[in-house]
Amino acid sequence: MFDNKVAIITGGSGGIGLAAARLLSAKGAKVLITGRRQSVLDEIASGDSNIRGFAADAGDPEAASRTVAAAIEHWGRIDIVVNNAGSGVLQPLADANAKSIADIFAVNVAGPALLAAAAIPHLERTSGAIVNISSTYGSKAASGLSLYAASKAAVEHLTRCWALELAPKGIRVNAVASGPVETAFLRERMGLSDEQIDAVKRQEREAIPLGRRGVPGDVARWIVSLADPDASWITGQVIAVDGGLAIA
Ligand SMILES: NC(=O)c1ccc[n+]([C@@H]2O[C@H](COP(=O)([O-])OP(=O)(O)OC[C@H]3O[C@@H](n4cnc5c(N)ncnc54)[C@H](OP(=O)(O)O)[C@@H]3O)[C@@H](O)[C@H]2O)c1
Repeated sequence: MFDNKVAIITGGSGGIGLAAARLLSAKGAKVLITGRRQSVLDEIASGDSNIRGFAADAGDPEAASRTVAAAIEHWGRIDIVVNNAGSGVLQPLADANAKSIADIFAVNVAGPALLAAAAIPHLERTSGAIVNISSTYGSKAASGLSLYAASKAAVEHLTRCWALELAPKGIRVNAVASGPVETAFLRERMGLSDEQIDAVKRQEREAIPLGRRGVPGDVARWIVSLADPDASWITGQVIAVDGGLAIA
């Protein structure tokens, strides 16, 4: 159980992150969720006394230390860090530019690295765990998705390297490589039109061996399982939760 445990979940104001926050809260944890819209964070926190919102953009280099400080100020400890906030871009290589590359790596790679680094002393004290969120496309090649896919490949290798580096401190580091899940990601993160979203969803449904896109809870339960102190002998792993897409 998670009684007295404290978790940080970036991008916890919607989708997979919110499902994980609600699950951890139901199991007794205190959860600090981040997102960029204060009103959304406030609304979630007002409905669950175990959840607090903290406005922070994962792509802002200052966000990590502010987020860690907020969790410590509220609850005095950190047991779990979930690097969930993600940015996406469907962009052919020919259209890539310095800004599009920097923007995606700021949120998907630099943000998680800075948050993990800032949390180390606190996680060491609690023998805590980091769970990073990757994607099927962190290991599967996809045309037009190279920047997003490469940023998630980086997340997966950071996971393995950190697991080795932090094991002597008693900190476990794992990742969940999510398959396509029904969230706001395609519209709000990828900026796709309704027509494009329909086409992507149709294509993904056909490609997923188990025949459906996921829902946030499909992925959240594995985030929580990897964060659970009972999983004390698993580190450096990337678990695919994707209806079989990665092996198709
Ligand atoms: N959905 C999928 O199909 C899918 C598939 C594979 C992997 N993933 C990965 O799973 C993770 C979560 O995806 P999701 O689809 O659940 O997310 P989502 O629904 O698109 O967004 C969840 C929340 O994240 C917040 N957020 C977005 N950008 C942020 C930033 N820069 N800093 C802080 N908060 C931010 C958003 O609130 P604000 O807008 O208010 O900030 C939103 O409420 C991501 O890392 C994504 O790459 C998703």
